[in-house]
Amino acid sequence: MTSQLMPGDQSTILITAGPTREAIDPVRYLTNRSSGKMGYALASTAAEQGHRVILISGPTQLDVPDRVDYIPVETAEEMYQAVEHHIGKANIAIFAAAVADYRPAVVPEQKIKKSAESMTIELVRNPDVLGSVRNTFGYKGILVGFAAETENVETNAREKLTSKGCDLVVANDVSRKDIGFDVNENEILLVFPNTTETPPKDSKQHLAHVILDHALELAAVGNTD
Ligand code: CTP
Repeated sequence: MTSQLMPGDQSTILITAGPTREAIDPVRYLTNRSSGKMGYALASTAAEQGHRVILISGPTQLDVPDRVDYIPVETAEEMYQAVEHHIGKANIAIFAAAVADYRPAVVPEQKIKKSAESMTIELVRNPDVLGSVRNTFGYKGILVGFAAETENVETNAREKLTSKGCDLVVANDVSRKDIGFDVNENEILLVFPNTTETPPKDSKQHLAHVILDHALELAAVGNTD
């Protein structure tokens, strides 16, 4: 892509954040341990810097940052539709959400009553939101993904960088208790097509600045397909 953006120019940044929630029945759901803190830190930092921010978020306990266009969603399917609707406005897209890969195949209208000693819930694949952005939605801007890994962090993140068409993947080891899900600090790897950077462990707020600086720099040089 060619880009006329200069460092300091205003961008429109679409950010996904938080977990998704997949109904099992009217009172139960499947979700994960994402707090949304990293995505919200990115959204508030970008808005403070004067960028237009579209924050598409699953359910979290966090306050919505000032001056962002906030689009609440619950399921992966809703997140997919919201991203499809809004991605055309963005020149930078950052996918920090922890999207459920599967949802229950059937969701009964009534609460499931207990009966047998064991039960099985059949799950079906959810759409890969980030994985659809380049090919299905035709997005040409800067694309930043996240990779939540418990082993082989850099290798798995590099695999996601290629398979999802990202310019940068922010990887973290979610098996560690001191970083990652639901804590204020994070230690990340920044995986680019030709290099990997390892910023020191820091607050999610500060790392949001680091990630944004890289995304804005990529946008300024038009470093994408
Ligand atoms: N992602 C997405 N939609 C999905 C799954 C993941 O948009 N259905 C995005 C996440 O927001 C993140 C990246 O893809 O930016 C990687 O997510 P992650 O959970 O680490 O990996 P998966 O692609 O789900 O693969 P796996 O669970 O097999 O590691």
